[in-house]
Amino acid sequence: MIIDKNIQLSDFTTFRTGGTADFFCRVSTVEDLKIVRDFIQKNNILFFVLGGGSNVLISDEGFRGLVIKNEIKKELVCEAGEVTMNSTVLVSAGSGNDWDGFVGETISRGWFGLENLSHIPGTVGAAPVQNVGAYGVEAGSLVEWVEIFDMETGEIKKISAQECGFGYRDSIFKRSQNKKLIITQVCFRLSLKPDVHIEYKDLTEYFTAKNITDITPVQVRAAIIEIRTKKLPDWKIMGTAGSFFKNCFITKEKYESLKEQYPGIPGFTGADGLVKVPLAWVLDHVCNLKGYRHEGVGVYENQSLVLVNYAMKNASEVRELASLIVMKVKEKTGIEIEPEVEYVGF
Ligand code: EPU
Repeated sequence: MIIDKNIQLSDFTTFRTGGTADFFCRVSTVEDLKIVRDFIQKNNILFFVLGGGSNVLISDEGFRGLVIKNEIKKELVCEAGEVTMNSTVLVSAGSGNDWDGFVGETISRGWFGLENLSHIPGTVGAAPVQNVGAYGVEAGSLVEWVEIFDMETGEIKKISAQECGFGYRDSIFKRSQNKKLIITQVCFRLSLKPDVHIEYKDLTEYFTAKNITDITPVQVRAAIIEIRTKKLPDWKIMGTAGSFFKNCFITKEKYESLKEQYPGIPGFTGADGLVKVPLAWVLDHVCNLKGYRHEGVGVYENQSLVLVNYAMKNASEVRELASLIVMKVKEKTGIEIEPEVEYVGF
């Protein structure tokens, strides 16, 4: 393993932003992490772990410290003897494995549950960090354990899904005091019996339009790939980090008062009584921001929760656009929105 100096980070993020990192390395084993830990402690520097770089906005100033690119890849392991009474299997992979490659492989081997999370960019290790979710399924609900390497103590251990504290786009790994925990492997409990979830509007409409019944997980994966390809920009062609903000959760009273003002506003009441309001709808129909451009960046034409890099000269253009959106939503609805993308080096 080599520790390089002054590496341009824009080459490693899907938004294509980011100045240089003072130090940069790629780790492919836990042994590499131990070497990196010594380096960090000897030099007393900060570090930051990068997976697929698909959920970060890195500043033009880059990162003063060591950026660790997680490439801890492992063949999928289906733990022997784990076929339980309710026909589930435990399947683990390295945190540096490509997420969608992993999802595709589980389905083709007949291990189901992750099909709704198809076609999401990034790595296996990033899934528990932000509890990736799409089309009514969250990764956290299928996690069995997460293996972590503690950069402070050098210890390696497994923690349970419950200890991960999963919430909407949230987990303990997002807390600053837990940034010392580097995910090395993730294990999911998957099902041998298909149990498809197609209740999400886009999926129901897709299968109804095609008149498909008796839907299989393979068909769900194919449908999601098609839907996402149409709705979301291809990060290989256009810089983006997907949804830039989180959706909003508001009280029933607040929702009722917004509904009087904006009658079409969608709302989904959760078990906790809070109402989830799709921010994309607010940006589109309340703020009229769909397709809006600021310098070289803009609100994507097909999905207003997504910001895209058309011809950005510096990363602060995204930050300016994001601030403008935050202000506009607050002014029109009183809601304070939060970014979903992680800011680095700002
Ligand atoms: N809508 C609009 N205008 C738009 C787009 C959407 O009015 O331009 C409305 C529609 O009513 C639609 C609703 O907003 O029914 C929700 O839109 P969508 O189904 O596209 O989902 P989302 O809530 O905007 C979330 C995730 C996505 C995930 C989709 C599908 C977050 C922050 N985003 O988006 O995740 O793919 O659901 O499940 O929760 C990502 O995190 O990068 C990401 C793309």
